[in-house]
Amino acid sequence: MDFLRASDIAHTHHPIAAPVAPDALSRLVQRLEPVGRGAAFLDLGCGYGRWLLEALAAHPGTTGVGVDRALPPGLAEAAAARGLTDRVRWVEADAQGWATDGLFDAVLCVGATHAFGGLDGTLDAARRHLRPGGRLLLGDGIWNAPPSAAALAALEVGPEDMPDLAGLVDRVQAAGWEPGYGHVSTLAEWDEYEFSWTGSLTAWALHEAPTEEERAEALEIARGHRTAWLRGWRGHLGFATLVLHDARGSAPGR
Ligand SMILES: C[S@@+](CC[C@H](N)C(=O)[O-])C[C@H]1O[C@@H](n2cnc3c(N)ncnc32)[C@H](O)[C@@H]1O
Repeated sequence: MDFLRASDIAHTHHPIAAPVAPDALSRLVQRLEPVGRGAAFLDLGCGYGRWLLEALAAHPGTTGVGVDRALPPGLAEAAAARGLTDRVRWVEADAQGWATDGLFDAVLCVGATHAFGGLDGTLDAARRHLRPGGRLLLGDGIWNAPPSAAALAALEVGPEDMPDLAGLVDRVQAAGWEPGYGHVSTLAEWDEYEFSWTGSLTAWALHEAPTEEERAEALEIARGHRTAWLRGWRGHLGFATLVLHDARGSAPGR
């Protein structure tokens, strides 16, 4: 079973591919304001499209483009269910190299900074696509607590690979962005996300897998992920989503 297939099944009940609850997501996209009619959003690494669709629904008269290197199934249906088909376009492409002539009023990039080699590359990419003074909705991993050896081993990273919340804010400010709002995922949001991820895959393995081989593979992925979470990163790995204002491009009245 390839990872994309496993991930699609794992996100059945939690199509936001980040430890963020739907009400927090709604608040965050609302805080992209002011967003006028005709404004355009770009979601880099859009995944199942939940951030972009919620942003479009929250801001009437806007349009959006979602870019992902592997568009998952169900995006057209998700847009249609919310009456947003005519306002959104999905593009399957490597976000790193993807280019368009126009500039966007807001860029979203949640849980996909690895597409740009990390935080700094993501901030650069966002600025390339953004009109001066626009907004960036950025979601990325942080340390909630100094990482234990078990957390580092489970995530296969070093302590310097992620900042804490203050360090994240320092880095975005150094690149010319100012936080206008933010959300730090709670332990309850993490637990809901990880139980959903592992539980959806487990239920599929036990009740829907078409072959013994796929059942065994899916169970192994779910168990491995659960162990790495519970014995590794739980409580240490955090996630922050920030609404950032482009301080370099802002001017009075914009
Ligand atoms: C953790 S998911 C987050 C999805 C979505 N932003 C969300 O929060 O629900 C990361 C997404 O980034 C996409 N991705 C990773 N590398 C990429 C790249 N180079 N270009 C475009 N998308 C990429 C993956 O396919 C995946 O859908």
